[in-house]
Amino acid sequence: MNDKIRSDFPLLDERRQDQRRRGPLVYFDNACMALKPRQVIEAMQSYYQEFPACGGRSGHRLSRQVDDEVDAARRQVAKFISARRQEECVFTRNTTEGINMVAHGIGLKQGDEVIISGKEHNSNLIPWLRLRQEQGICVKVLPVDSIGTLDMAALESAITKKTRLVSMVHTSNLDGVTNPLRDIAKIAHDHGAKVLADGAQSVPSHPVDVRHLGVDFLSCSGHKLCGPTGTGILYGSMEALEQLRQYNVGGETVIDSTYDTFTPEELPMRLEAGLQDYAGIIGLGAAVKYLSRIGMQRIERQELALNKVMTEGLRDLQIQAGRDRQEEGSLEKEEGSPKRMKKIRLIGPQDPALRSGIYNFTVDTMDAHHVAKMLDVSDSIMVRSGAHCVHSWFNANSIKGSVRASMYFYNTLAEAEHFVDAMGRILTL
Ligand SMILES: Cc1ncc(COP(=O)(O)O)c(C=O)c1O
Repeated sequence: MNDKIRSDFPLLDERRQDQRRRGPLVYFDNACMALKPRQVIEAMQSYYQEFPACGGRSGHRLSRQVDDEVDAARRQVAKFISARRQEECVFTRNTTEGINMVAHGIGLKQGDEVIISGKEHNSNLIPWLRLRQEQGICVKVLPVDSIGTLDMAALESAITKKTRLVSMVHTSNLDGVTNPLRDIAKIAHDHGAKVLADGAQSVPSHPVDVRHLGVDFLSCSGHKLCGPTGTGILYGSMEALEQLRQYNVGGETVIDSTYDTFTPEELPMRLEAGLQDYAGIIGLGAAVKYLSRIGMQRIERQELALNKVMTEGLRDLQIQAGRDRQEEGSLEKEEGSPKRMKKIRLIGPQDPALRSGIYNFTVDTMDAHHVAKMLDVSDSIMVRSGAHCVHSWFNANSIKGSVRASMYFYNTLAEAEHFVDAMGRILTL
């Protein structure tokens, strides 16, 4: 990707880095949080400086401007995920909130079944576990194999007439693998169940078309889409949203009320309770406009190119180290012979084309947090370490934690090579 794109991001802009005298910084924690381009920051700033009023209530010109800008953001978002209508897009605070809105809104009762996969983020696990504890729903967890592939035959056999919802991660933050959501939706619908997709990772990384996928709901976060923190989108088909019980109620969710009754608002406002994060929503609109301008296919290609450099670079280093070990073994050990390279174990498939922008790994005999800290301190490379909010998978596989590098379109091939070099040094410590 070109310098022009990088100059849109204050943190990556080399001129600004020089000013701060802290040298280049490599940001590979994009699956957690994407960086924000100045177009997003400026859109938010314009709200605060030029029309910092409330939307949906007052009729004055500032308020009308807020409404116009929020409408424009909703249109942008709807276009971005190919929703039929903008009313199908509800603004939320994040993916987690959208999933909770569905979990508490579809009226699950004792004995109803919800199917998830064996590598869900806590955001798509805990709401169901709590409903199991408190309301007696049944949660079925589908197995995934050692390279992260979902067992579709297991879905066919797990689904019954009691299944109300299949709630599934689209692209995994653990291994970057994308589930066949369209096929999952077909199976679910054939059995009368609805589908909720956790699109936290897929929407930022791939072209996502909710109509093509055929899902009933999809939840994603603005902050992973180069948008502001504390923003998100819950997509629902009109039919699905109509059936959703209001999870949060109060101002703006009703047209009228008496001391005894109330009349709910139209969609989507009925699901957006209280004064909204207008600056955030406007910033989110600017973010998806920015991503659309770059092109989601181009973003997808860049993630793959970066992942290929990392995967092949580290694979080659490990192969070479294996050869060196063999040669070492056949020669008499000399003083000063090269140190052995520790082994990397990749989580998910070997093929980078199947892992979008995620390179997640463990290092034999090294603590994941320690590796991440070394990358930061010695090479200014920011990665995430730990269980990545998928504790259930780590516990099931008896793995303590891993190091995850996650790439986005503004990262460069040189940065990926720098990561390979830095890891090569860490592995021989
Ligand atoms: C797959 C997946 N689902 C859900 C979430 C939760 O997103 P948020 O914290 O923005 O609600 C994340 C965040 O990393 C994620 O990667």
